[in-house]
Order: sequence, then C-alpha cells, then structure tokens
Amino acid sequence: MSTSTRGSFSSRIGFIAAAAGSAVGLGNIWKFPYEVGNYGGAAFLIIYVLCAFIICMPIMVAEIAMGRNAQLNPFGTYKKLGGKGWAWAGFFGILAGVMILSFYNVVAGWAFGYFLQISFGDLLAQGDYGAYFGRYVANVGDNMVFSLAFMVLTALIVVGGVQKGIERWTKILMPALISIILVLIIYGLTLDNAFKGIEFYLVPDFGKINMEVLYKALSQAFFSLSLGMGALITYGSYFSKKDNIVSSAALVTTADLSIAFLAGMLIFPLVFFQGIAPTEGPGLVFVALPGIFEAMGPILGRVVGGGFFLLLCFAALTSTISLLEVPVAFVTDQFKTGRKKTVWLLAVLIFLIGLPSMLSQGAVSWLTEFVSYGGQTRDFMTVVIDIFSDIALPLGGFLISIFVAYKWKIARFSDELEHGHPKFRGTWEEKFVTIMLSTLSPLIVGFIVLATILERFAGISLF
Ligand code: TRP
Repeated sequence: MSTSTRGSFSSRIGFIAAAAGSAVGLGNIWKFPYEVGNYGGAAFLIIYVLCAFIICMPIMVAEIAMGRNAQLNPFGTYKKLGGKGWAWAGFFGILAGVMILSFYNVVAGWAFGYFLQISFGDLLAQGDYGAYFGRYVANVGDNMVFSLAFMVLTALIVVGGVQKGIERWTKILMPALISIILVLIIYGLTLDNAFKGIEFYLVPDFGKINMEVLYKALSQAFFSLSLGMGALITYGSYFSKKDNIVSSAALVTTADLSIAFLAGMLIFPLVFFQGIAPTEGPGLVFVALPGIFEAMGPILGRVVGGGFFLLLCFAALTSTISLLEVPVAFVTDQFKTGRKKTVWLLAVLIFLIGLPSMLSQGAVSWLTEFVSYGGQTRDFMTVVIDIFSDIALPLGGFLISIFVAYKWKIARFSDELEHGHPKFRGTWEEKFVTIMLSTLSPLIVGFIVLATILERFAGISLF
C-alpha cells in the first residue's frame, strides 16, 4: 500500500524521535514541576510514574496501532475502524488538541521571551523574579509578538511535512536539552538546602494522596505523553508496518518520564535554596531559575540561562508541531485541501483562539477572574486547561480503550501489533496490554475522571 501522498517516517528511530519530541515539552519542564509542587511532592511523583507505565502506555500502544491500521487522522481512523457513530470521538480529540495548542503556544511564547530577555535583555538584573514574571505575563505587547512568532515557527516546520520537518530537529535538540539539564542539576545540588528540595521531591508522604492528587497525576501523565486526543493516532499513521509498536511505545514513555524526572531534580533544589514556595503554581520554573542564572554572573548567566530557555523552546516546538499536525491531517485527509494552505489557516485560527488565554494572565481583569468553581477563582487559561487537557485527555483515553477492546476488538488490534513484532501473541506484553485496555484502564480512568468532575463541579465527594 502506498503511503507516499500522506508522508511517513523514514525509520523506527525517526518515529521514536518524533513521538518523544511530541511528548517532551513544556509538560515536562513547566507543568510537571509545578504540579508536583502543588499536589504533594514525592507522593504525586509515585502516582504519576504508575499512571504513565500501567495505565497510559497500553493506551499509547492502542493509539499508534489504530492510526497505523487506518492510515488516517483521528476522525478518519475512528470512522474507518468503528463507523460513523465513533467518528465524533476522533473529532472531539482533534478539538481538544486545537484548544491545547491555543494555550500551549502562549506558554511557549513566555519561554521564547525569557530566552530573548535573558540572552539579550536585562532580565537577570531584576532581583524579584516572582514580581517580574507577574508583570511579564500581563504584558500584552511582548506576549503577542513572542507567541505569534512561535506559531509561525511551528507552521513553517509543519509545512515542511513529516520527515524533513518533524524528524530532523528532534534528533539533534533532545540530547542538547538533556545535557544542559544535567549540568544544572549538578550545580543545583551543591547549593544550600538542595537536599530539602530532594526530600520534598523523593521522600513520599502517603498521607498527601487524595482524589485530586490521583486525578492530577493521571491527567498530567496523559498530557505529558501527548495521549488521549489522537496525536499518536496521527503519528501512528506515518509509522511503518515493519516496526514494533509495543517496544517503541515503551521507549517513548521511558524517555518522557526520564525528562520529567530530571526537571524535578533540577527545580526543587533551586526552589528550596531560594526559599520559593513549591506551591508557586504555573510560574514556578520561570521564578526558580533566573535567580540561579543571575548568581552565575552576567556573562555565564546569559549563556547558560539563555541556552536553557532556548532548548526549552525547541522542546516546546517539537510538541506544538505534533499538536498542529493533528488538525492539519484531519483537514487534508477529510477535505483533500492543500497542505500548505491548511497549515497557515489553522495556525492563524489557533493563534486567535489563544488570545483570551493570553490575556487572562493579568492583562484583562474579567478574563483573569473568569469563573469560580471548586472554591477558587480561575482565569480563562486555567479553565481551558481544566476542560481540554485535564478532563478531555483522560476521557479520550477512556474512549480509546473501550473502542479497541469492544468495537475494533482485541483480535484485530493484536493482528496489527504482530506487524513488526511477529511473536507478540502469547507474550506477557500481550496479556498486560489486553487486560489493561479491556478492563483496568477504562475502570480506573473512568472512575477517577467521574469522581473528580463530581467533586469539582458539583461539590459531591465520593470519599
Ligand atoms: N506532551 C507535550 C508536553 O508535555 C504536549 C503535547 C504535545 C500534547 N502534543 C500533545 C498534549 C497532544 C496532549 C496531546 O509538553
């Protein structure tokens, strides 16, 4: 079968690089640390790791297998494998992806601005980095420019197509990011109170585990693995029949977890050294790091700090690419439109959808205090994250497991997995993936999501 018109990855490594590039991003370095900080430190970390390997990895295998089998975008995949009634599940995922990209691009713009202001501006002379961050995210002009620039960059690469665009960059930039993180970890561990940070991060207090911690860890695992909305259905549709899906998914999961883990090892010693509250929230990374770069002196600080945020931008870029690729694949597959035009149209549209999120960080007060639920006032961006990431992704994962187990059926799913892994049947991998998808994943994910929605929006607590 020819896939040449849709594009494909050149090799298994190419796929792994792209999928890991999609997974590793702001989710690991920006979102993961502040969620660990907010939801109990090491207790969160443990639940997170369990969720990623036990619940999410089988769902990742399912997504890739569906996409490779159908050779289509998420909407087309559900429709082809399950009929019209299921196509909405794919569509719902694509919509979630669009909304995720809309706010993600804003945060990527922050990282881009920090790179420029550290390298070429006076960011490292600010002293109070918490206050600086607050002013920074409320500054409409800078935000517009930086996030627009980021969206343009994303679109340029996605126009280039699957192989040339997506694969190439990831393979170079990921090792560079890991290196700079490792150097900073070693530096951070030499600082006073560093081990208080490590203790917070690695010594669990199981008393802190409650429904919200379970839920946040689960949804963060989905977000970080780019799971639950069809990004991996889309990447799976470019994946060769000769390659092993199960081992590739295991590698991607391991790579993603490792980088999130390292981000925590980096941030928490710095947080405790500087006396910052770990519950600082979405500003945590932006507040914890500059002080350290400042201490390195004007030249080294610019180089290391600028380098760090530049690489963070690249990590974010390989993620925004995957987020944009999903609606692009949907529109080009379903409506046979030209790739280039589609990419630019969607990029502009999603940038516009992101404006209220951008303005909800202090610039416009009614967006900043948008609604109140669960006993807290939430800004617009937080509402988008709550709905389209925290709820939609686990829900999407729930639908994928139900779909594969009871509609597409395990037998066909296993047939697909046998391509590239001829001995798949009869292995423990088969048993594990099958049991998870048909019973445990939907039960656990369904329960946690339902309990959280009830608790947060209806005030009903199941415990
Ligand atoms: N996983 C990415 C990160 O951690 C974000 C991301 C990219 C994503 N593609 C996605 C999240 C698809 C959910 C769905 O930064």
